[in-house]
Amino acid sequence: MLLLTIESSCDETAVAVVRDGRDLLSNLIISQIDTHARFGGVVPELASRQHLQAICPLVDAALEDAGMTLSQIEGIAVTRGPGLIGALLVGVAYAKALAFTLQIPLVGVHHIEGHILAIQLEQKVEYPFLSLAVSGGHSHLFRVDGIGHYTLLGRTIDDAAGEAFDKVAKMLGLPYPGGPVIDRLAQQGDASTVRFPRPMLKKPNFNFSFSGLKTSVLNHIESLGETIDEQKIANIAASFQEAAVDVLLQKTLRAARQEGLSRIVVAGGVACNSGLRHAFQSVSLKESIDVYFPSPLLCSDNAAMLAVAGDAYLEKGLRSATDLNAISNWPLTEAAEYFIE
Ligand code: KG4
Ligand code: ZN
Repeated sequence: MLLLTIESSCDETAVAVVRDGRDLLSNLIISQIDTHARFGGVVPELASRQHLQAICPLVDAALEDAGMTLSQIEGIAVTRGPGLIGALLVGVAYAKALAFTLQIPLVGVHHIEGHILAIQLEQKVEYPFLSLAVSGGHSHLFRVDGIGHYTLLGRTIDDAAGEAFDKVAKMLGLPYPGGPVIDRLAQQGDASTVRFPRPMLKKPNFNFSFSGLKTSVLNHIESLGETIDEQKIANIAASFQEAAVDVLLQKTLRAARQEGLSRIVVAGGVACNSGLRHAFQSVSLKESIDVYFPSPLLCSDNAAMLAVAGDAYLEKGLRSATDLNAISNWPLTEAAEYFIE
């Protein structure tokens, strides 16, 4: 099935054309970083307006890039949630109107379901597997038994991992989004100069907490007073990243062992992080665990990732009703509950 997929949950407008939930014919993204950077974070009102401006030309460009016309598209998948409601509504309203006009089926996909399954566009990963979903809004561990079959094992009880990266960057006077900047600086820093705490590591569950770690970084910065030069900033970035990665790695491995899973898929924007990738890859060489990371373009927000679940649901005859609405808070465990046949 030839799908057009649309993502507009936060600050990236993205459109892709994908065949059979596998073959990526085009995958275009317009980032709004320049608009939001001067505010130090995403401004929801501006995000919605920019999605509105971007979506029509981006659909045209994606079709052209794929060498396809609208009349060849057989179904549409769109991010239904979670995310910024005004931003989501732009994609959902556009997708509904287009599906109605073309008289083709529409499917609303969970954003995190998209992230977790993105890997299937590049490599075949057998089910079941454990997924660590780490983005600006999520730090969750799921057992994945198949498309639509997700069990929540643990989650952050406060900030998401990406949010912690962004907030620590802000404390260090670094630009938004902070994750990639911290990642780059960490490579020039010495992580042994400060040892930040590993929150929740000893707790016998699979939950995370990043708020205390963030406060420790703030206290450390304040203790340095005026004397914070570039090398110190790089050292703090390296130490913070090491602590965050350590907790994510150890808890994920523990969950994999408890669930008896030998495959781990790391997904979401934070999966771009080179320290996280390196830590998981080292462990996978030592233990008999296969670790999968999508390539960076498929880790951060994109529309192609929606095609894996979108295609599977539509092929099963499941789709969204014509009154599909966006939803800002939506647990992944309920991702497949609202379809009609
Ligand atoms: O999945 P994503 O693109 O959007 C959401 O669904 O939230 O994730 C964005 C998050 C941001 O917090 C960003 O700082 C973080 O992913 N991020 C990174 C890196 N690249 C993006 N965090 C750490 N290291 C990176 N290289
Ligand atoms: Zn995302």
